[in-house]
Amino acid sequence: MRLPYNCAVTILAIETSCDETAVAILRGNELLASEVASQAEHEAYGGVVPEVASRNHLLHAPRLLEETLGKAGIALKKIDVFAATSGPGLASSLMIGASIAKGLALGTGRPYLAINHLEGHLLSPFFSGNFQIEPNVSLIVSGGHTLLVEVRGVNKYRILGRTVDDAAGEAFDKVAKLLGLGYPGGPEVERRAASGRPTRFDFPRSMLDSRDHNFSFSGLKTAVRYRLADFEKERGMPELVNDMCASFQRAVVEVLVKKTLRAARECGAALVTTSGGVSCNQALRAEMAEQCGNAGLRLLTAPPRLCTDNAAMIAFAAALRFKAGHRSAVAEEIDPNLALV
Ligand code: KG4
Ligand code: ZN
Repeated sequence: MRLPYNCAVTILAIETSCDETAVAILRGNELLASEVASQAEHEAYGGVVPEVASRNHLLHAPRLLEETLGKAGIALKKIDVFAATSGPGLASSLMIGASIAKGLALGTGRPYLAINHLEGHLLSPFFSGNFQIEPNVSLIVSGGHTLLVEVRGVNKYRILGRTVDDAAGEAFDKVAKLLGLGYPGGPEVERRAASGRPTRFDFPRSMLDSRDHNFSFSGLKTAVRYRLADFEKERGMPELVNDMCASFQRAVVEVLVKKTLRAARECGAALVTTSGGVSCNQALRAEMAEQCGNAGLRLLTAPPRLCTDNAAMIAFAAALRFKAGHRSAVAEEIDPNLALV
Protein backbone atom coordinates (compact mmCIF):
# COMPACT_ATOMS: atom_id res chain seq x y z
CA MET A 1 0.00 0.00 0.00
CA ARG A 2 1.53 3.37 -1.02
CA LEU A 3 0.88 6.46 1.01
CA PRO A 4 1.21 10.19 0.39
CA TYR A 5 3.50 10.53 3.39
CA ASN A 6 6.96 10.32 1.90
CA CYS A 7 9.53 10.05 4.68
CA ALA A 8 11.49 6.91 5.51
CA VAL A 9 10.70 6.97 9.25
CA THR A 10 9.61 3.56 10.59
CA ILE A 11 6.74 3.72 13.07
CA LEU A 12 5.40 0.93 15.26
CA ALA A 13 1.90 1.66 16.58
CA ILE A 14 -0.17 -0.17 19.16
CA GLU A 15 -3.95 0.12 19.53
CA THR A 16 -5.73 -1.28 22.59
CA SER A 17 -8.54 1.21 23.26
CA CYS A 18 -11.33 -1.36 23.50
CA ASP A 19 -11.37 -5.10 22.78
CA GLU A 20 -9.08 -5.30 19.73
CA THR A 21 -5.35 -5.74 20.28
CA ALA A 22 -3.60 -4.34 17.20
CA VAL A 23 -0.03 -3.65 16.13
CA ALA A 24 1.14 -2.10 12.84
CA ILE A 25 4.44 -1.05 11.32
CA LEU A 26 4.61 1.74 8.76
CA ARG A 27 7.85 2.60 6.97
CA GLY A 28 7.75 5.84 5.00
CA ASN A 29 4.67 5.43 2.87
CA GLU A 30 4.60 1.64 3.02
CA LEU A 31 2.50 -0.37 5.46
CA LEU A 32 4.82 -3.28 6.29
CA ALA A 33 2.42 -5.18 8.55
CA SER A 34 -0.87 -4.68 10.37
CA GLU A 35 -2.13 -7.36 12.74
CA VAL A 36 -5.34 -7.44 14.78
CA ALA A 37 -6.34 -9.94 17.48
CA SER A 38 -10.07 -9.77 18.20
CA GLN A 39 -11.57 -11.07 21.43
CA ALA A 40 -14.49 -13.45 20.92
CA GLU A 41 -14.92 -13.88 24.70
CA HIS A 42 -17.17 -10.81 24.93
CA GLU A 43 -19.87 -12.35 22.72
CA ALA A 44 -21.13 -14.43 25.68
CA TYR A 45 -21.79 -11.17 27.59
CA GLY A 46 -23.31 -9.25 24.65
CA GLY A 47 -20.79 -6.44 25.13
CA VAL A 48 -17.21 -5.69 26.13
CA VAL A 49 -16.21 -6.60 29.71
CA PRO A 50 -13.33 -4.21 30.58
CA GLU A 51 -11.42 -6.59 32.89
CA VAL A 52 -11.58 -9.40 30.33
CA ALA A 53 -10.45 -7.05 27.56
CA SER A 54 -7.53 -5.79 29.60
CA ARG A 55 -6.34 -9.27 30.57
CA ASN A 56 -6.56 -10.38 26.95
CA HIS A 57 -4.52 -7.39 25.74
CA LEU A 58 -1.83 -8.39 28.18
CA LEU A 59 -1.93 -11.96 26.87
CA HIS A 60 -2.05 -11.12 23.16
CA ALA A 61 0.17 -8.03 22.88
CA PRO A 62 3.64 -9.61 23.28
CA ARG A 63 2.85 -12.37 20.76
CA LEU A 64 1.28 -9.87 18.35
CA LEU A 65 4.31 -7.61 18.59
CA GLU A 66 6.60 -10.50 17.66
CA GLU A 67 4.31 -11.55 14.81
CA THR A 68 4.04 -8.03 13.41
CA LEU A 69 7.80 -7.49 13.50
CA GLY A 70 8.22 -10.92 11.86
CA LYS A 71 5.71 -10.16 9.09
CA ALA A 72 7.32 -6.77 8.50
CA GLY A 73 10.72 -8.49 8.41
CA ILE A 74 12.19 -5.85 10.67
CA ALA A 75 14.12 -5.88 13.96
CA LEU A 76 12.94 -3.87 16.96
CA LYS A 77 16.07 -1.75 16.87
CA LYS A 78 15.11 -0.52 13.39
CA ILE A 79 11.94 1.15 14.70
CA ASP A 80 12.34 4.95 14.78
CA VAL A 81 9.14 5.96 16.58
CA PHE A 82 6.73 4.17 18.92
CA ALA A 83 3.09 5.26 19.02
CA ALA A 84 0.02 4.14 20.91
CA THR A 85 -3.61 5.09 21.31
CA SER A 86 -3.86 7.17 24.48
CA GLY A 87 -7.64 7.73 24.46
CA PRO A 88 -10.57 7.80 24.33
CA GLY A 89 -11.41 4.25 25.38
CA LEU A 90 -11.42 1.88 28.33
CA ALA A 91 -8.80 2.94 30.89
CA SER A 92 -7.66 -0.60 31.70
CA SER A 93 -7.30 -1.39 27.98
CA LEU A 94 -5.59 1.86 26.92
CA MET A 95 -3.08 1.40 29.72
CA ILE A 96 -1.72 -1.85 28.25
CA GLY A 97 -0.88 -0.63 24.74
CA ALA A 98 0.38 2.77 25.91
CA SER A 99 2.60 1.21 28.60
CA ILE A 100 4.15 -1.20 26.12
CA ALA A 101 4.84 1.54 23.55
CA LYS A 102 6.30 3.83 26.22
CA GLY A 103 8.45 1.00 27.57
CA LEU A 104 9.77 0.25 24.08
CA ALA A 105 10.45 3.94 23.44
CA LEU A 106 12.32 4.29 26.73
CA GLY A 107 14.22 1.03 26.25
CA THR A 108 15.36 1.91 22.73
CA GLY A 109 15.78 5.66 23.32
CA ARG A 110 13.30 6.48 20.53
CA PRO A 111 10.49 9.07 20.56
CA TYR A 112 6.97 8.26 21.72
CA LEU A 113 3.75 9.62 20.25
CA ALA A 114 0.38 9.45 22.02
CA ILE A 115 -2.39 9.28 19.43
CA ASN A 116 -6.09 10.10 19.77
CA HIS A 117 -8.13 7.11 18.61
CA LEU A 118 -10.69 9.42 16.99
CA GLU A 119 -7.97 11.13 14.97
CA GLY A 120 -6.89 7.67 13.80
CA HIS A 121 -10.40 7.05 12.46
CA LEU A 122 -10.76 10.60 11.12
CA LEU A 123 -7.59 10.44 8.98
CA SER A 124 -8.03 6.80 7.88
CA PRO A 125 -9.95 7.59 4.64
CA PHE A 126 -6.74 9.24 3.34
CA PHE A 127 -4.60 6.22 4.13
CA SER A 128 -4.78 4.33 0.86
CA GLY A 129 -5.27 7.11 -1.63
CA ASN A 130 -2.68 9.41 -3.06
CA PHE A 131 -3.98 12.37 -1.10
CA GLN A 132 -2.87 15.11 1.19
CA ILE A 133 -5.29 15.69 4.05
CA GLU A 134 -7.74 17.85 2.13
CA PRO A 135 -10.42 19.96 3.80
CA ASN A 136 -13.49 17.81 4.37
CA VAL A 137 -16.53 17.15 6.47
CA SER A 138 -15.95 13.91 8.28
CA LEU A 139 -18.46 11.44 9.71
CA ILE A 140 -16.94 9.18 12.37
CA VAL A 141 -19.34 6.35 13.22
CA SER A 142 -18.17 3.67 15.60
CA GLY A 143 -19.28 1.68 18.63
CA GLY A 144 -18.34 4.49 20.99
CA HIS A 145 -18.73 7.64 18.88
CA THR A 146 -20.86 9.39 16.30
CA LEU A 147 -19.23 12.65 15.34
CA LEU A 148 -19.42 15.17 12.52
CA VAL A 149 -16.18 17.12 12.20
CA GLU A 150 -15.02 19.91 9.93
CA VAL A 151 -11.42 19.06 8.97
CA ARG A 152 -9.07 21.72 7.58
CA GLY A 153 -5.88 19.66 7.94
CA VAL A 154 -3.98 17.62 10.53
CA ASN A 155 -4.93 18.90 14.00
CA LYS A 156 -7.29 21.48 12.51
CA TYR A 157 -10.61 20.10 13.59
CA ARG A 158 -13.95 21.66 14.54
CA ILE A 159 -16.67 19.49 16.05
CA LEU A 160 -19.94 20.18 14.24
CA GLY A 161 -22.13 17.66 16.04
CA ARG A 162 -22.21 14.42 17.98
CA THR A 163 -24.66 11.93 19.39
CA VAL A 164 -26.50 13.12 22.48
CA ASP A 165 -27.00 9.53 23.69
CA ASP A 166 -26.07 6.20 22.02
CA ALA A 167 -23.45 5.96 19.27
CA ALA A 168 -24.66 4.54 15.95
CA GLY A 169 -22.62 1.34 16.43
CA GLU A 170 -23.95 1.00 19.96
CA ALA A 171 -27.49 1.15 18.53
CA PHE A 172 -26.60 -1.62 16.05
CA ASP A 173 -25.18 -3.70 18.92
CA LYS A 174 -28.18 -3.12 21.22
CA VAL A 175 -30.73 -3.87 18.50
CA ALA A 176 -28.80 -7.03 17.60
CA LYS A 177 -28.99 -8.09 21.24
CA LEU A 178 -32.77 -7.42 21.35
CA LEU A 179 -33.16 -9.58 18.25
CA GLY A 180 -31.02 -12.40 19.65
CA LEU A 181 -28.15 -11.84 17.20
CA GLY A 182 -24.44 -12.03 18.06
CA TYR A 183 -21.93 -9.38 19.16
CA PRO A 184 -20.71 -7.14 17.58
CA GLY A 185 -24.16 -6.58 16.17
CA GLY A 186 -23.41 -4.35 13.17
CA PRO A 187 -22.20 -6.97 10.69
CA GLU A 188 -24.97 -9.40 11.71
CA VAL A 189 -27.73 -6.75 11.44
CA GLU A 190 -26.38 -5.80 8.00
CA ARG A 191 -26.39 -9.45 6.90
CA ARG A 192 -29.98 -10.01 8.07
CA ALA A 193 -31.13 -6.66 6.64
CA ALA A 194 -30.08 -7.80 3.16
CA SER A 195 -33.01 -10.26 3.16
CA GLY A 196 -35.49 -7.95 4.93
CA ARG A 197 -38.03 -5.29 3.98
CA PRO A 198 -36.78 -1.82 4.95
CA THR A 199 -40.28 -0.29 4.67
CA ARG A 200 -42.14 -2.75 6.94
CA PHE A 201 -41.52 -0.78 10.14
CA ASP A 202 -41.52 3.00 10.17
CA PHE A 203 -38.93 3.60 12.88
CA PRO A 204 -38.24 7.17 14.08
CA ARG A 205 -35.56 9.36 12.45
CA SER A 206 -34.65 11.22 15.64
CA MET A 207 -33.25 14.76 15.28
CA LEU A 208 -33.37 14.53 11.49
CA ASP A 209 -34.79 18.03 11.30
CA SER A 210 -33.06 19.52 14.33
CA ARG A 211 -31.24 22.75 13.53
CA ASP A 212 -27.96 21.44 14.90
CA HIS A 213 -25.68 18.65 13.63
CA ASN A 214 -26.32 16.32 16.58
CA PHE A 215 -27.69 12.79 16.50
CA SER A 216 -29.81 10.62 18.80
CA PHE A 217 -30.16 6.85 18.48
CA SER A 218 -31.50 5.70 21.82
CA GLY A 219 -35.16 6.39 20.88
CA LEU A 220 -34.73 4.28 17.76
CA LYS A 221 -33.46 1.35 19.80
CA THR A 222 -36.41 1.75 22.21
CA ALA A 223 -38.83 1.86 19.27
CA VAL A 224 -37.43 -1.48 18.07
CA ARG A 225 -37.90 -2.93 21.56
CA TYR A 226 -41.56 -1.81 21.76
CA ARG A 227 -42.38 -2.94 18.22
CA LEU A 228 -40.82 -6.32 18.96
CA ALA A 229 -43.16 -6.72 21.93
CA ASP A 230 -46.12 -6.54 19.49
CA PHE A 231 -44.85 -9.68 17.76
CA GLU A 232 -44.32 -12.02 20.69
CA LYS A 233 -45.45 -15.07 18.71
CA GLU A 234 -43.10 -14.34 15.83
CA ARG A 235 -40.09 -13.52 18.06
CA GLY A 236 -36.93 -15.01 16.60
CA MET A 237 -38.59 -15.90 13.27
CA PRO A 238 -36.27 -15.05 10.35
CA GLU A 239 -38.78 -12.89 8.46
CA LEU A 240 -39.48 -10.67 11.48
CA VAL A 241 -35.80 -10.38 12.42
CA ASN A 242 -34.78 -9.57 8.83
CA ASP A 243 -37.52 -6.94 8.43
CA MET A 244 -36.64 -5.36 11.77
CA CYS A 245 -32.96 -5.23 10.81
CA ALA A 246 -33.69 -3.75 7.38
CA SER A 247 -36.10 -1.12 8.77
CA PHE A 248 -33.74 -0.18 11.62
CA GLN A 249 -30.74 0.05 9.28
CA ARG A 250 -32.71 2.22 6.83
CA ALA A 251 -33.55 4.66 9.66
CA VAL A 252 -29.92 4.91 10.84
CA VAL A 253 -28.56 5.32 7.31
CA GLU A 254 -31.10 8.00 6.39
CA VAL A 255 -30.24 10.13 9.42
CA LEU A 256 -26.46 9.71 9.03
CA VAL A 257 -26.48 10.55 5.32
CA LYS A 258 -28.91 13.48 5.44
CA LYS A 259 -27.20 15.14 8.39
CA THR A 260 -23.71 14.64 6.93
CA LEU A 261 -24.76 16.20 3.64
CA ARG A 262 -26.43 19.12 5.41
CA ALA A 263 -23.23 19.73 7.41
CA ALA A 264 -21.12 19.56 4.24
CA ARG A 265 -23.43 22.06 2.55
CA GLU A 266 -23.28 24.46 5.49
CA CYS A 267 -19.47 24.27 5.65
CA GLY A 268 -19.13 24.69 1.89
CA ALA A 269 -17.11 21.45 1.79
CA ALA A 270 -16.30 19.76 -1.51
CA LEU A 271 -15.29 16.48 0.12
CA VAL A 272 -17.05 14.14 2.58
CA THR A 273 -15.17 11.38 4.42
CA THR A 274 -16.50 8.49 6.50
CA SER A 275 -14.70 6.26 9.00
CA GLY A 276 -15.22 3.98 12.01
CA GLY A 277 -16.73 0.51 12.34
CA VAL A 278 -20.24 1.46 11.14
CA SER A 279 -18.79 2.91 7.93
CA CYS A 280 -18.13 -0.71 6.85
CA ASN A 281 -21.88 -0.95 6.36
CA GLN A 282 -22.62 -1.38 2.65
CA ALA A 283 -26.07 0.22 2.85
CA LEU A 284 -24.51 3.32 4.42
CA ARG A 285 -21.69 3.38 1.87
CA ALA A 286 -24.10 3.00 -1.06
CA GLU A 287 -26.55 5.68 0.14
CA MET A 288 -23.74 8.09 1.06
CA ALA A 289 -22.16 7.58 -2.39
CA GLU A 290 -25.47 8.17 -4.17
CA GLN A 291 -26.40 11.28 -2.18
CA CYS A 292 -22.90 12.77 -2.43
CA GLY A 293 -23.01 12.14 -6.18
CA ASN A 294 -26.39 13.92 -6.43
CA ALA A 295 -25.05 16.87 -4.44
CA GLY A 296 -21.83 17.14 -6.48
CA LEU A 297 -19.64 16.21 -3.49
CA ARG A 298 -16.64 13.89 -3.57
CA LEU A 299 -16.72 11.00 -1.10
CA LEU A 300 -13.74 9.26 0.43
CA THR A 301 -14.47 6.22 2.60
CA ALA A 302 -11.92 4.37 4.70
CA PRO A 303 -11.26 0.91 3.20
CA PRO A 304 -13.26 -1.72 5.20
CA ARG A 305 -10.22 -3.21 6.97
CA LEU A 306 -9.37 0.28 8.26
CA CYS A 307 -12.93 1.02 9.42
CA THR A 308 -12.97 -1.22 12.48
CA ASP A 309 -10.28 -0.76 15.11
CA ASN A 310 -6.74 -1.34 13.85
CA ALA A 311 -3.23 -0.01 14.47
CA ALA A 312 -2.50 0.98 10.85
CA MET A 313 -4.68 4.08 11.28
CA ILE A 314 -2.82 4.92 14.51
CA ALA A 315 0.54 4.54 12.72
CA PHE A 316 -0.72 6.75 9.88
CA ALA A 317 -1.91 9.48 12.28
CA ALA A 318 1.44 9.17 14.11
CA ALA A 319 3.34 9.55 10.81
CA LEU A 320 1.46 12.72 9.94
CA ARG A 321 1.91 14.13 13.44
CA PHE A 322 5.61 13.17 13.56
CA LYS A 323 6.13 14.90 10.23
CA ALA A 324 4.42 17.99 11.67
CA GLY A 325 6.93 17.99 14.55
CA HIS A 326 4.76 16.53 17.31
CA ARG A 327 6.32 14.42 20.11
CA SER A 328 4.78 13.19 23.38
CA ALA A 329 6.34 12.85 26.80
CA VAL A 330 6.47 9.27 28.06
CA ALA A 331 5.00 10.67 31.27
CA GLU A 332 1.84 11.59 29.32
CA GLU A 333 -1.09 9.74 30.90
CA ILE A 334 -3.75 7.85 29.00
CA ASP A 335 -7.12 9.64 29.03
CA PRO A 336 -10.29 7.51 28.73
CA ASN A 337 -12.27 10.68 27.90
CA LEU A 338 -9.75 12.28 25.56
CA ALA A 339 -11.55 14.72 23.24
CA LEU A 340 -10.62 15.23 19.59
CA VAL A 341 -10.29 18.96 20.18
O1 KG4 B 1 -14.53 1.52 15.11
P1 KG4 B 1 -14.90 0.30 15.86
O2 KG4 B 1 -14.22 -1.00 15.51
O3 KG4 B 1 -14.70 0.47 17.40
C1 KG4 B 1 -14.94 1.64 18.09
O4 KG4 B 1 -14.08 2.55 18.06
O5 KG4 B 1 -16.07 1.70 18.68
O6 KG4 B 1 -16.48 0.13 15.70
C2 KG4 B 1 -17.16 -0.96 16.21
C3 KG4 B 1 -18.64 -0.77 15.94
C4 KG4 B 1 -19.52 -1.82 16.59
O7 KG4 B 1 -20.58 -1.18 17.25
C5 KG4 B 1 -20.02 -2.65 15.41
O8 KG4 B 1 -21.29 -3.22 15.62
C6 KG4 B 1 -20.05 -1.61 14.31
O9 KG4 B 1 -18.89 -0.83 14.52
N1 KG4 B 1 -19.99 -2.22 12.97
C7 KG4 B 1 -20.98 -2.12 12.06
C8 KG4 B 1 -20.57 -2.89 10.95
N2 KG4 B 1 -19.34 -3.42 11.22
C9 KG4 B 1 -19.00 -2.99 12.46
N3 KG4 B 1 -22.16 -1.47 12.10
C10 KG4 B 1 -22.95 -1.58 11.01
N4 KG4 B 1 -22.64 -2.31 9.92
C11 KG4 B 1 -21.47 -2.99 9.85
N5 KG4 B 1 -21.18 -3.70 8.77
ZN1 ZN C 1 -12.69 2.84 16.94
